[in-house]
Amino acid sequence: MSTILTIAGQRGGTGKSVTAVNLAASFALLEKNTLLIDTDPQRSATHWCGIKKADYTSDLASVLSGRVKFIDAVIKTEFIYLDIIPSGFNLIQVAARLAKHTENEKLLRLFLKDVEKDYDYIIIDAPSSYGFLSMMAIAAADWLLVCMSIPQTRAEDFHDMLRYVKYIRSLHQVPLKIAGLVFNRCGSKKEAVSFLDRHALSDAKELVLNTVIPADDTIEKSIGRKIPAALYDIKGPAASAYLDLANEVHFFLK
Ligand SMILES: Nc1ncnc2c1ncn2[C@@H]1O[C@H](COP(=O)(O)OP(=O)(O)O)[C@@H](O)[C@H]1O
Ligand SMILES: [Mg+2]
Repeated sequence: MSTILTIAGQRGGTGKSVTAVNLAASFALLEKNTLLIDTDPQRSATHWCGIKKADYTSDLASVLSGRVKFIDAVIKTEFIYLDIIPSGFNLIQVAARLAKHTENEKLLRLFLKDVEKDYDYIIIDAPSSYGFLSMMAIAAADWLLVCMSIPQTRAEDFHDMLRYVKYIRSLHQVPLKIAGLVFNRCGSKKEAVSFLDRHALSDAKELVLNTVIPADDTIEKSIGRKIPAALYDIKGPAASAYLDLANEVHFFLK
């Protein structure tokens, strides 16, 4: 059975897609069978795994519109243990159609039932919105990893996120749990905790993971080459932090 983990946080630029790609790549390096699902029409996760339009004919939109089977949209990446379901711009149109029925927010969750046995981890990159696609990405998960970035995140983001999770949990009757808060562009856990104290978010301190992701230009460089940071420089600060994060999450969730 796989662990389904959605990388959430509704503000854009906090590092969700960077985290989805690099955490998925780190699980793959730890020889965990991993599936990354890109649910954002901006398709950063798809690009940053080096997947080009010419590499595939089916994507998440094809699956959600019923044109292909889920398994037929899965493609291999350069990592032996990492597969991906890419996103595409047409996901916008498919989502607009599906959004007419609240029940459709559980579609991805239903599709995942067929592949759960094939993967140790399923990582879902969620868009920065409160619309259909983020509801679907969150409702599919067992666990949420919430990305916070000191320069970007505001105190109200955290309260909004908790209300959003509570709403999805009760609307869809899903046992969604928060695995933790991962601080991006952050020097230490101490810095993360003092950010929470400064913003009257002391209650959130127990959710802060020990691993923080530093601001690191190897992230930009790896994005430029469309590869995970581990393939750019496995010993670099970002790749090391994401490997630590994978180990911490694995230890916490198993
Ligand atoms: N730790 C980091 N160090 C350096 N740059 C980062 C880091 N995290 C994210 N970035 C940059 O910030 C941008 C936004 O990150 P992204 O993962 O797309 O955010 P989100 O998916 O939450 O909108 C990326 O294009 C990347 O260039
Ligand atoms: Mg993103």
